[in-house]
Amino acid sequence: MCGIVAYAGHKPCHRILIEGIKRLEYRGYDSAGLAVIQDGKLALQRAAGRIASLEEILDETTAHGTVGIAHTRWATHGAPTTSNAHPHLDDSGRIALVHNGIIENYAALKTWLQSQGKHFSSQTDSEVLVNLISFLYRGNLVDAVQKALKEVEGTYGIAVISSDHPETIVAARKGSPLLVGVGENEHIVASDAAAIVEHTTRAVYLEDGEMVVITPDAFRTITLDNITVDKELENIEFSLQQIELDGYDHFMLKEIFEQPTSLENTLRGRIDLQAGRAILGGLENVKDQLAQAKRIIIIACGTAWHSGLVGEFLLEHLARIPTEVEYASEFRYRNPIIEPGTVVIAISQSGETADTLAALREAKEHGALALGIVNVVGSTIAREADAGVYLHCGPEIGVASTKAFTSQLAVLTLLAIYLGRRRSLDHDQAQRLLQSLTEMPARIKNVLCLSDQIQKVAQSCLDREHWLFLGRGYNYPLALEGALKLKEISYAHAEGLPAAEMKHGPIALINKGMPTVFIATSGSQYEKVISNIEEVRARGGMVLAVATENDTRIQTHAEAVFTIPDVPEPLSPLLVVIPLQLLAYHCAVGRGCAVDKPRNLAKSVTVE
Ligand code: AGP
Repeated sequence: MCGIVAYAGHKPCHRILIEGIKRLEYRGYDSAGLAVIQDGKLALQRAAGRIASLEEILDETTAHGTVGIAHTRWATHGAPTTSNAHPHLDDSGRIALVHNGIIENYAALKTWLQSQGKHFSSQTDSEVLVNLISFLYRGNLVDAVQKALKEVEGTYGIAVISSDHPETIVAARKGSPLLVGVGENEHIVASDAAAIVEHTTRAVYLEDGEMVVITPDAFRTITLDNITVDKELENIEFSLQQIELDGYDHFMLKEIFEQPTSLENTLRGRIDLQAGRAILGGLENVKDQLAQAKRIIIIACGTAWHSGLVGEFLLEHLARIPTEVEYASEFRYRNPIIEPGTVVIAISQSGETADTLAALREAKEHGALALGIVNVVGSTIAREADAGVYLHCGPEIGVASTKAFTSQLAVLTLLAIYLGRRRSLDHDQAQRLLQSLTEMPARIKNVLCLSDQIQKVAQSCLDREHWLFLGRGYNYPLALEGALKLKEISYAHAEGLPAAEMKHGPIALINKGMPTVFIATSGSQYEKVISNIEEVRARGGMVLAVATENDTRIQTHAEAVFTIPDVPEPLSPLLVVIPLQLLAYHCAVGRGCAVDKPRNLAKSVTVE
């Protein structure tokens, strides 16, 4: 996600633009910039880092213009550098554009535009769009934008200005939100109302396929075919904080409910159903080395370590490559044995976790091929890995990791299929898994409907200070993740275990009413999990179960059952984790905890 703001009025707009993108910084914050039409020319200022870095360089060149555009970036293509920051100018310097979304066919368009003599100065897909507009521009900016957007595949929310049309802003939407704030002799286009409410509460919301042409005193909404669209002026009734939270009480809840969309973004362009293959462009430069991989070591911390443990099962199950998961903090000091053919995979949402970064460097020093599975584009781990796969799940603001976890699982599934198809994984098996994977966003949406039921159950357990989470096979890492989610935001003590391990000591903990969460989905070890459940119930424990829908037996073994759709076992973690996230969230809220900023924790542990 990125944040866009555009202003056309009669006041100097550089501060309006800066304050506007500051309101959108939660959408992305790795670089920022603005372009203003001043003295008949386009003036551009951009900076890597937070918006404060941009403010430090603002000068007179953009201080008087009354029409401009601004952007705060969440990098998807190209590291967060000044040259990759938006706005992007075309190679003539007459047209500027800001973009939120992904141009999927940017590479082909870029190659063709270069063959037509267009020059580029960034690695971004967005610069391709502004140069395409420039190539098609014959004096009518609206027409050039319309023609260019018809060539584009992917998603966009854009705002475009040109020094040839000093009073006009052209904006368009497809897949990324845009609305137009309607003021007195001023108009503001933005990604969401947070950047508008302090200027006006009257707005027009664009739909996909619509454009708007604004000047200080007027605006008109049209389609790409220049057909006028009558839009209703609406009132913005949310508070600023509500807008950033998009109506949710906490970023964590918002990010739990974002998972159908974030998973779609992670999977976008990476599944070739017909060929039964995963497409991981970020591994292209190391694919031959990967073909020779003899052993995989996954290094990570916390939730990322839990996704790595699922990854171990996936890689051994689907690619038949010996795999192990190591805590990065242990791996880095163990003088690990790294033989030729060893691939080390660092998993990290932030890409800045100190232990994981140090472990990655240790692995490289020992001669391993080092891959990164990271969310933050251009982060240190992403830059130091030999190759990698970005999560593309958007900024994760809540300290407790949720949507990054499901995106990590998706990437690890794609990686296991990618490697497996070069080994013993046949076309039909891979195709069935990939088909199911494409259905997972809709299935997650289905499981999110459990939230109210889970909230009620959580209400009945708010006074419990000790929990157990138990699972077998693919569900064992999910038991660990469920325990971590609960303890890190509700401060109740929770422990995750392989279900069979309980009888080797932890069962001594079970006393009357102790909440024990069993992940009892259908699979090869279901009967054994039922036996473990009975061992807990025989000692008075309170059993909560995550089970597969249509399981008619589980109800007699548990006080509460959270059911999920029946999916292939390797994909079930993507669904099992949802009720566990919701259980942790509702317990934390019920216990009055600071859900988004739990005590003692930080979003990224950049110290040892
Ligand atoms: C997870 O909810 C925690 N916030 C924490 O365990 C986190 O997963 C861990 O610090 C790793 O962070 P990273 O993915 O950014 O490397």
